[in-house]
Amino acid sequence: MNVVLLGPPGAGKGTQGELLARSQGWVRLSTGDLLREAVRQGTSLGAEARRYMDAGELVPDEVILGMVREVLERPAAGYVFDGFPRTRPQAEALDGLLADLRRGIDAAVVVDVPDDVLVKRVSGRRSCGSCGAVYNIYYNPPATADVCDRCGNALVERADDSEATVRRRLDVYREQTEPLIDYYEKNGAPVAYVDGNRPVEAVQHSVRETLGL
Ligand code: AP5
Repeated sequence: MNVVLLGPPGAGKGTQGELLARSQGWVRLSTGDLLREAVRQGTSLGAEARRYMDAGELVPDEVILGMVREVLERPAAGYVFDGFPRTRPQAEALDGLLADLRRGIDAAVVVDVPDDVLVKRVSGRRSCGSCGAVYNIYYNPPATADVCDRCGNALVERADDSEATVRRRLDVYREQTEPLIDYYEKNGAPVAYVDGNRPVEAVQHSVRETLGL
């Protein structure tokens, strides 16, 4: 099954996508994570992407599609697309790439969360610079402040999580990504809405229920 997770910054796409992919043995394809890894490794792609990410703007479609093609070359039982596609050209390109593999998008799940909660979630996010585990100082704090429970390394804030940048990311989501809900509705993939303003496990339960899992 191939599932697109849609939703604004901080809605919980990464959190839910990780749980869903792990439970089903699928691959979670997060273009945000791929870009952050490129930034961390100091590649030229990472350096280019960083300028857009730090400003809360979208990275150009051709950069994103190059990364996605590479991941899709590794066959998987299912994919959870998290933070991708974000524009209509990306959605159309994904349809083409999947068609080449005789696959398609089976469902789009929109994770809904009010804006004031999104800003608080994003400002409270802390991630492990080493293993990638994600925490939240308000909702899911580590046992020891700023230390990863899983691997003991330091937790860091994302460069694009300042309040001003989050507000810009929200605007970009409304302008460029939210219209994809209509795209999927018109292109035959069932679109389901899930209330993301609940505990993580309750949201995951609803995500799986809407997918018939
Ligand atoms: P990306 O990394 O995709 O960021 P995003 O879409 O803005 O989403 P976030 O990662 O902020 O949030 P999320 O919904 O995954 O929530 P999470 O689970 O982490 O993209 C970053 C940038 O990269 C973009 O701005 C753009 O520049 C570029 N980019 C990426 N993909 C691109 C593409 N396809 N095209 C062009 N550019 C692209 O949760 C957030 C916090 O809330 C965490 O602390 C978490 O612990 C907490 N939390 C989660 N769920 C709950 C809950 N139910 N209750 C309480 N707390 C919760």
